[in-house]
Amino acid sequence: MINTKLIKDLKYSNEILNLRNKSYCLSQSFNEKIIKKKNHELWLRKFIKDQNIMYGIFNKKKFIGYIRIEKNKKNLVSWAITKKFWGKINFFQILKKKTKKNFIAKIKLNNKASQIVALKAGFTLVGNRKNFLLFKK
Ligand SMILES: CC(C)(COP(=O)(O)OP(=O)(O)OC[C@H]1O[C@@H](n2cnc3c(N)ncnc32)[C@H](O)[C@@H]1OP(=O)(O)O)[C@@H](O)C(=O)NCCC(=O)NCCS
Repeated sequence: MINTKLIKDLKYSNEILNLRNKSYCLSQSFNEKIIKKKNHELWLRKFIKDQNIMYGIFNKKKFIGYIRIEKNKKNLVSWAITKKFWGKINFFQILKKKTKKNFIAKIKLNNKASQIVALKAGFTLVGNRKNFLLFKK
């Protein structure tokens, strides 16, 4: 059973970091460097305090992914799912539910899976930059 939960504290900090530091996430991020635990905790604490949104995605209560929404960056949305669950959980439906009009996503040119997921979640392509496509809902 898949469910989502708003993350309000550091309980899932390690799980988020482990996923964020996977090679398949690093390669699709704009900061491709491995993130250190201490920096991650400081970042996550501030992220939550600043009213940004982090949804955890869970399979039978086990953390398998996240959707991150950055309020101070025009509601920039990013996401990741543990590889084992790719193609298995209809992630686009979760993304569709958790995002609203005017939310944006910046997706690297080669990231076909995320581009398709964004389109299926109701985003449209609004811009083509040097190293990413800009999507807006
Ligand atoms: C993005 C992510 C969550 C997608 O997971 P998912 O929804 O389970 O994705 P799927 O494997 O079902 O792929 C989505 C679609 O892209 C297609 N696809 C996947 N890889 C593809 C590729 N290399 N080329 C073309 N199409 C591809 C799939 O066939 C699927 O199409 P469908 O919906 O028509 O069946 C997952 O790939 C991920 O966590 N990636 C790493 C993090 C990341 O890229 N984050 C985005 C930063 S904004």
